[in-house]
Order: sequence, then C-alpha cells, then structure tokens
Amino acid sequence: MSALPIEFPAVETTEVQLNINDRSYQLRLQPRTHLADALRDHCGLTATHVGCEQGVCGACTIEVDGAPQRSCLQSAKRFEGRQIRTLEAFDNDPVMAQLRAAFSAEHALQCGYCTPGMLMTARDIVLRLPEADEVRVCEELAGNLCRCTGYFGIVRAVLRVLRERASLVSSQENIHAA
Ligand code: FES
Ligand code: FES
Repeated sequence: MSALPIEFPAVETTEVQLNINDRSYQLRLQPRTHLADALRDHCGLTATHVGCEQGVCGACTIEVDGAPQRSCLQSAKRFEGRQIRTLEAFDNDPVMAQLRAAFSAEHALQCGYCTPGMLMTARDIVLRLPEADEVRVCEELAGNLCRCTGYFGIVRAVLRVLRERASLVSSQENIHAA
C-alpha cells in the first residue's frame, strides 16, 4: 500500500518594514519570526546572537530607540517604526571602541558568545551611569548571562571604561579651571 502524500498548509508571510542601523529593510517574514531571527537570517546582521529565546540570557540584546532591549521576545513586525541599532552600527563608536579594548585588556571574553549582548548593555551602563560602582555594574549586568562564567573580567572591563572616562572629564575640568 503506497503512503498518502502529506500536504502541509502554505506558510503565511507578511510584509515587515524595519529601520535598522539607519537603513530601511523591506522583509517578508512569518508573523511569528522574532526580531533576532529577522536580523540574523533576513538582514545578514549576525553580530546579534541567539541563546535562550526566552528573554533570560541577554545574548540577543540590541538597541531600540536608544535603549537596550531583547530581540528574541517579540515578533519583528512589532518593531516597525522603531529605530533599531545592532552591534554592527557601533564600529566607529568611541565608547564601544573603549569597551572593546577594555574587554580585551581585562580578558572579559572566552568563547565570545555573550559578548555582543554584553557590549550593548555595557555601553548603556557607561553612558547612563557614569558614576556606577562595582555593585551597580553587577546589578545592571545581571540580565546578561555568560556561559563561560567570565563575570569578573566583564565587570572589571566596564569599571575600567568608567574610570577612564571619569579621569578624562576631570582632566578637562582642570584645563578649563586653569
Ligand atoms: Fe534573547 Fe536569550 S536569546 S534573552
Ligand atoms: Fe563564553 Fe560569555 S564568553 S558565554
């Protein structure tokens, strides 16, 4: 007896227009496609990593309208009209350059899987909380998990950038006061 062919229903897709890294993307996606998959699989922006897909690990952290946000929790369609920036947008960003150098100097990455999300969160900490101490940095990084458990180096790297920036501000103030 020959098996009956299995017929799968046609996959429904929808048009999605996204503003990513100052560029407009016109995509055709399944309604359930979350933003992280849209970035990686449909826009070629693979700096954004996907870990838990449950909002727990922070590997998929991007910037939406200037603030860090998970990209695995909502469908891409829900981000229409928002300004999305992924790690690729920060190649020439001076704060990100400082953070990358500090991550390297403090051995803040091992396999590197968590690093893009860590950098996105770290940049937000540096800009939003210039006087953050170690406790506050740990609190702020609590939403980003490192499977290699290299937390000490990551926290040291963020604190290093905070120190560097604070000393730059104070030397500029001294110049102006002189
Ligand atoms: Fe989004 Fe883990 S992949 S929080
Ligand atoms: Fe491997 Fe963080 S460096 S997961």
